[in-house]
Amino acid sequence: MMRKKAILITGASGEIGQALINSLAQTSSLPLLTLDLHAIPPELLRLCTHMSGDILDHKLLARLVTEYDFEMIFHLAALLSTRSEFSPELAHQVNVDGTLALFQVAAEQSQRRGKPVSFIFPSSIAAYGLPTLAMKARDRRVKEWQWNNPTTMYGCNKLYCEQLGIYYSKHYQQLSASKPVMLDFRSLRFPGLISAYTVPSGGTTDYGPEMLHAAAQGRPYACFVREDSELPFMAMPDAVTALLQLAAAPAESLSRSVYNVTSFTLSAADFRDQVMGAFPEAEVTFEPDWQRQGIVDSWPAELDDTAARQDWGWAPAYGLQRAFDEYLVPNIHERYQ
Ligand code: NAD
Ligand code: SER
Repeated sequence: MMRKKAILITGASGEIGQALINSLAQTSSLPLLTLDLHAIPPELLRLCTHMSGDILDHKLLARLVTEYDFEMIFHLAALLSTRSEFSPELAHQVNVDGTLALFQVAAEQSQRRGKPVSFIFPSSIAAYGLPTLAMKARDRRVKEWQWNNPTTMYGCNKLYCEQLGIYYSKHYQQLSASKPVMLDFRSLRFPGLISAYTVPSGGTTDYGPEMLHAAAQGRPYACFVREDSELPFMAMPDAVTALLQLAAAPAESLSRSVYNVTSFTLSAADFRDQVMGAFPEAEVTFEPDWQRQGIVDSWPAELDDTAARQDWGWAPAYGLQRAFDEYLVPNIHERYQ
């Protein structure tokens, strides 16, 4: 029986997954197979074949391998940073063991096809860990190889999986007599992402999008970090563009396997000001949770994305003002009307 060619998206019911399905379905000639613990919104069902299931279910993955020939895998399934701190061992299972299982699928399929399976993996600013606010101010704009000292389980998981991906794409079975065809691993370190259509949960950058979505619904919001907390952010359409551009980039143009990408940096107070500008009735207060604050303080204020710009032409379409004025505010407004 011929295996069906497809693109696999794990974690497809999540924020990035939903946005990615919409974009990829318009451009890809291959069918999309999506996998998630949860169902996907009904309007996306016509764009993909969805399977409800767990990436830790080895029998399920084995069945997929016998039925499908994956050209590309977008491996998005994960527990995000705050949730991972509450269940670190579960996070390790999903974020590391689950990713390892997907690497094995891609490695096996690359060998069988005699052609690399593309493996696209979203990593995070959580891979960084700055020890103090003074260091965060001094080394404001971090390069990929600086401060790889995460303080969270999620950050450790992301950093290790980046390394595992590099291993599977460059050194897998390095002592065997014949050199196997290896998978093609590419990863992006994203800042906090903000979607107009979905509300995040379980992350630490969530205060930004939560503030905006609460204001649009006329609900008061108590922000869980200090006003001066700074992090980099990006609008969701740019995140999807980055994933698709990196996936399409010619291998010879890539000088790295893991790239920073970013768009704009703002403090929580700047975020409040943007929100108040769009929704003047909004009620935003600051009630820092010192434990979550500690995580935010350890993440860099800016990412240096020079390598992505040089190697594959990365440039965000949505800077701060355009993100709010043309993407976030009008679409969120419409959503809650
Ligand atoms: P999300 O929480 O909205 O989506 C994650 C999805 O993974 C969920 O739908 C969840 O049901 C699914 N999932 C979790 N465990 C699973 C399992 N065992 N089996 C199958 N599915 C499972 O998160 P997101 O924002 O869409 O993030 C997607 C990816 O991008 C993650 O790897 C995340 O770490 C990464 N990322 C996100 C951000 C951000 O700000 N949203 C920033 C950097 C990196
Ligand atoms: N937005 C994500 C989180 O806060 C970062 O990867 O967990």
